[in-house]
Amino acid sequence: MWLAYAPYSRFRVGAALECLDGTVFTGCNIENAAYGVCLCAERVAAAKAISSGRKDFVRIAIISDSEEYCMPCGSCRQFLREFSEDLEFLCARRDTAYVCYSMKELLAHAFVAVN
Ligand code: THU
Repeated sequence: MWLAYAPYSRFRVGAALECLDGTVFTGCNIENAAYGVCLCAERVAAAKAISSGRKDFVRIAIISDSEEYCMPCGSCRQFLREFSEDLEFLCARRDTAYVCYSMKELLAHAFVAVN
């Protein structure tokens, strides 16, 4: 979260994505003057992991400056579902208290491409 580049929303987000062997990839949100190309913290963490050869995700922690629990956006839920249908989400508030959800809870009846 501290590394976030969020001059437009001023909403800083941090993510830590854990793999099966305990390896953790972190991410932060990265905004842009062209708002549509902003990157969410979760997808930055996932991109770092995947480009390092890892896709065996078991859980992701997400935190922001907010007093509310930081929930992943719909696009990040769908993005992460591609790699882990059983991913666990730890959604934290700024005081580090958190709530846990499963992928199946946060993205029920997910889209899956059928050829
Ligand atoms: N954001 C994330 O990093 N993750 C989410 O799941 C939701 C939103 C970021 C994007 C943008 O930089 C800021 O939060 C406000 O939407």
